[in-house]
Amino acid sequence: MRHLLSIGDLSKAEIEAILDRAESFAEVGRRDIKKVPTLRGRTVVTLFYESSTRTSSSFELAAKRLSADLVSVKAAGSSVDKGESLKDTVATLSAYEPAAIVIRHPHAGAAQLVANWADASVVNAGDGKHEHPSQALLDVYTLRRRLGSLEGKRIWIVGDVLHSRVARSNLIAFRTMGAELTVCGPPALIPRGLEQLGCAVTHSLDGLGEADVVYALRLQRERMRESFVPSLREYAAHFQIDSRRLGPRQLLMHPGPVNRGVELSGEAIDSPQSLIAEQVASGLVVPWSLLVIVVLVGLGVSALAGIYPARVAARQSIVTGLKGFE
Ligand code: MLT
Repeated sequence: MRHLLSIGDLSKAEIEAILDRAESFAEVGRRDIKKVPTLRGRTVVTLFYESSTRTSSSFELAAKRLSADLVSVKAAGSSVDKGESLKDTVATLSAYEPAAIVIRHPHAGAAQLVANWADASVVNAGDGKHEHPSQALLDVYTLRRRLGSLEGKRIWIVGDVLHSRVARSNLIAFRTMGAELTVCGPPALIPRGLEQLGCAVTHSLDGLGEADVVYALRLQRERMRESFVPSLREYAAHFQIDSRRLGPRQLLMHPGPVNRGVELSGEAIDSPQSLIAEQVASGLVVPWSLLVIVVLVGLGVSALAGIYPARVAARQSIVTGLKGFE
């Protein structure tokens, strides 16, 4: 796994290996000094062409805690404003010889293009409506901590599935981990043929009581070129997860940012069933693990197999750093 472009590229065993490594970083996160030398001397670039709070800050903090040199570029305020193409921006940043590039872009397939152009390992932090594999990993991590295993667990994904890269990646990840999936939302916001991904589709919350986990999605109004719902009030009346609809034993998730009062009621967000804060916390340790693995594999070190041969002197420091926190 030199790049993380799509969650479908990972087997169940590979997902488990990434999450197991994240567990060991969680231990580092509880120390007074939350820093390890694993990526010392390496450069990590974060390149964000779309707004982000959680994903960008979590990868930035992860790179810093791994002692990497961080170059953080937001399209707004960079040469992109002056018309520089993605390819030229990547060529410019490649001059710093980054070990990893974490990219978010409004166009599906952008991360794959960057992987074709750059020598660095590439992590897809969201490409248009296509995929958000790091979100899927942190959600599986969060659920694994709570439930032990996702095998046979019933997960409902509710809301604007059509515009959601999170829904696409999470459906694949949850299914890979053995969960039973139901997708729910108004017909206009559910892509046709979704059943082929191995999930049930419904347009009503009537059967929600069977769910072990309710995963709500944001109405992505910035991606809507037409009106997909009659009104927010009507959408909320039919699809909002509120304390009336959420049972005491059900777990509630949302990738954030939340439209409070639209897809979730304030009470549901703040309820004991809500894992939203835990998802944000997982959003720190999973990027640590991902950055280490893609960089090691990019350097030719078989991280997933747990083999760290110091084949060339240039690789020695990173391997030593890895042993340092295990
Ligand atoms: C995303 O970037 O896709 C977010 O994590 C989810 C959202 O924007 O609703």
